[in-house]
Amino acid sequence: MSDSTHYQSGFGNEFASEAIAGALPVGQNSPQQAPLGLYAEQLSGTAFTAPRHLNRRSWLYRIRPAAVHQPFAALAHAGFHNRFDEAPATPNQLRWNPRPMPAAATDFLDSLVTVAGNGGAAEQGGIGIHLYAANRSMRGRFFYDADGELLIVPQQGRLRLATELGVLEVEPQEIAVIPRGVRFRVELPDGEARGYVCENFGAQLRLPELGPIGSNGLANARDFLAPVAAYEDVEGDFELVAKFQGTLWTARIGHSPLDVVAWHGNYVPYKYDLRRFNTIGSISYDHPDPCIFTVLTSASDTPGTANMDFAIFPPRWLVAQHTFRPPWFHRNVASEFMGLITGVYDAKAEGFLPGGASLHNCMSGHGPDAATFEKASHADLSRPDVIDGTMAFMFETRKVIRPTAQALASPQLQQDYYECWQGIRKHFTPPQI
Ligand SMILES: [Fe+2]
Repeated sequence: MSDSTHYQSGFGNEFASEAIAGALPVGQNSPQQAPLGLYAEQLSGTAFTAPRHLNRRSWLYRIRPAAVHQPFAALAHAGFHNRFDEAPATPNQLRWNPRPMPAAATDFLDSLVTVAGNGGAAEQGGIGIHLYAANRSMRGRFFYDADGELLIVPQQGRLRLATELGVLEVEPQEIAVIPRGVRFRVELPDGEARGYVCENFGAQLRLPELGPIGSNGLANARDFLAPVAAYEDVEGDFELVAKFQGTLWTARIGHSPLDVVAWHGNYVPYKYDLRRFNTIGSISYDHPDPCIFTVLTSASDTPGTANMDFAIFPPRWLVAQHTFRPPWFHRNVASEFMGLITGVYDAKAEGFLPGGASLHNCMSGHGPDAATFEKASHADLSRPDVIDGTMAFMFETRKVIRPTAQALASPQLQQDYYECWQGIRKHFTPPQI
């Protein structure tokens, strides 16, 4: 669905775009009078003194500065929050069925339900994990998240994300990232939409280092698409919703805040088509660790230990010889929240459905279910297997992912998930002496 003429290609580039020719100042950022009577405003996403390769900021040339709105007041929202300490963090393996579409008219923002998370905005680390299931476009309201950037993973239905820097259109198997603070509105071209949101309180997502893989592979920078400038010159009685320190706030605003006529910089929303991921794996025996599937990573203060890795399990060939080809049994120091966008995940025969989710926390044993183990243990390895028509993903974090009380009380929580391993039989046959 992507029209490449409406996007700029690259990751972390210094982009520039103007919706009207001449709106962008030449040779400086803040002239005494910006072109066309616009206001110049800098939006900084990193510390001013962040190293150059990590520094992110954009200059916006807009009809009114972002400061122009009425005072904020607290906004109640039962489902969307960052209270990750309200329920015990169980070591049980957890799995949820897909969330149903709402019966009443519900927009993206109102539909958000927080299912798990760790850390928070105050400590500038951790993530919040939220689900959306909406059936109405946001009308006359705009949102920004001051607590973290938003990694949006559509599972059903397209999203049209109208942001201050332009429009991103995303469909299932694409992702979008809205930087911290960027104002946007979510429209639903298909009438309904469902998916996952990772709210990243830590360092901004970036491409992983490639090490011995070399200069190409995994998610390639040129496949990330930033929008071009597109503005709204609209006045009316609108609502601006902010998420700030874990709670929501609402203010009246007399105009559309999506009024940026031109911009330049490297602090931008972007999209990426997961089907363009260059999947790398074993061509001899055994598997690489699943970090080989990392699309984007949020670093922590400890080298090599991510605040959050976003990994995917895309279509791929399995050719390893003498090898149990599905994901193996494992326990990790990291914690893993998985979702399924489409198809079947190769470690589970049933029960993990598109739109559903699973949570395997620090040191909780998991892996293939009994049916998958038996099948893969006796598979014919003389020929390759192809895994096709699937796309699963994982938010993997260094901190334990704590389910919220509402997620543990959800009717979608599968009470019998543990049963998928109960059929695993004892095969141990010691030699007779
Ligand atoms: Fe795992």
